[in-house]
Amino acid sequence: MSFPLATIDAAALRHNLGIVRQLAPNSRVLAVIKADAYGHGMVGTAKALADADGFGVARLNEALSLRSSGVIQKVVLLEGVATPEEVRQAALHNLEMVVHSFNQVAMLEQVASGVQFDVWLKIDTGMNRLGFRGEDFPLALRRLQSCAAVRSLRLMTHFANADVADEPSTEKQLRQFESLVHSLSFERSIANSAGIISRPDARVEWVRPGLMLYGISPLGEASTRELGLLPAMRLITSLIAVRTLKKNEAVGYGSNWQAENEARIGIAAIGYGDGYPRTMRNGAPVLVDGSEASIAGRVSMDMISIDITHLPNAQVGSEVVLWGRGLPVERVAPFADTLAYELLCRVTERVAVRWENVYR
Ligand SMILES: Cc1ncc(COP(=O)(O)O)c(C=O)c1O
Repeated sequence: MSFPLATIDAAALRHNLGIVRQLAPNSRVLAVIKADAYGHGMVGTAKALADADGFGVARLNEALSLRSSGVIQKVVLLEGVATPEEVRQAALHNLEMVVHSFNQVAMLEQVASGVQFDVWLKIDTGMNRLGFRGEDFPLALRRLQSCAAVRSLRLMTHFANADVADEPSTEKQLRQFESLVHSLSFERSIANSAGIISRPDARVEWVRPGLMLYGISPLGEASTRELGLLPAMRLITSLIAVRTLKKNEAVGYGSNWQAENEARIGIAAIGYGDGYPRTMRNGAPVLVDGSEASIAGRVSMDMISIDITHLPNAQVGSEVVLWGRGLPVERVAPFADTLAYELLCRVTERVAVRWENVYR
C-alpha cells in the first residue's frame, strides 16, 4: 500500500445522501461535487451518488470531465458560462446553467435558434457574490422568459451565514427571496448543507448539499454526530522513522517544538506537498494506531513530526490518521485556522486514493 492514502467510502457518501433525503423528503437533490467533489474525486463521487437528482459543479471543465467519464445525469454549472464558446460547449454536452448576470442573459439572447437550455436564475439576497439584486430581478426574469434559448427556468439563491445559529441575516435572505418569488410558479432552490440542516423552511423543490454529503456538518462536530453523518474520506499515512529527543532538543524547520523532557517523536510521511497545511500548529490531533497524539514541530513538504512519548508501542509502520472516522476533520481544521472545506479540497494528486464499498 502506498502512503499517504485517502480512502473514500462510497457507502458513506450514499448514507449521507440518505440523510439529506430524510431531512428534505419533498426536495430533489442537486449534489454539489465541484472542486473534485471537495477533494474526494469528482467522477467517483458522481458514480457513488448516482441516485442524486443531478450534480452541481462550478465550471465548464468540471462538467466536461463528468460527461467524458460517462456521467449522463443532470449537470448544472453553478457559475454559469463566461463566453459564447462556453455556451456552445454547454449546448453540446447538455449542461444546465445558472444565470446570474445581464452579460449571461445577453449571451443566451444571441444563441442560434433551436438551441435551448434549462436555466437557474440566481437572485442575490445578501451574499453579494453572484446573482441579480431584487431591483434587477424582474427585468432579468422578463428577458429570460422571452428568450428563445431558455427551455425552462428555476429560481435560486444562496445563503451567506446559514452555518451560524440564529443568524438574523439568514431569515432576512429567506424573506427577501420569498417576497420576490412567491407569486411565481417556478421551482426554487435555496439551501446548501447549512440551510438544509438548520432551516426546514429552506427545503424547497431543490436542495444543494455539498459538505454534508461528504459526512461533515458545517454546524460543527456535535451536529455531524447528531445527524449521523459519516465522513467519507480518511486520510492516512504511516510512521517512517521514530527518534528519541533529549530534554530541550527541538524538531524540524524553525525548531518550533522543543522537548520539555525526553520525548519520542514519530516522523510520518505526509506534508504540505500532499495538502496537509504548513500552517498546522503544534498540538493538532492525529491518531497513531488509533490513539490520539499531536503534531510537534513544523509541517514540511513531505513529513510531519508527532509527539508519541505516551505511545510506547508506536513504531515505524504504525498507522497515522490525519482525519476521517474517529478524528473529524472539523476538529483538525481550526489548528490550521481553516475549515473542513479547505482541508478536504486541498489534498493533492500526490496522495493515493482507494475507493471502498463501491458496489452495494
Ligand atoms: C451555489 C452553491 N450551492 C450549494 C453549495 C454547497 O454548499 P455546502 O458545501 O456548504 O453544502 C455551494 C458550495 O459552495 C454553492 O456554491
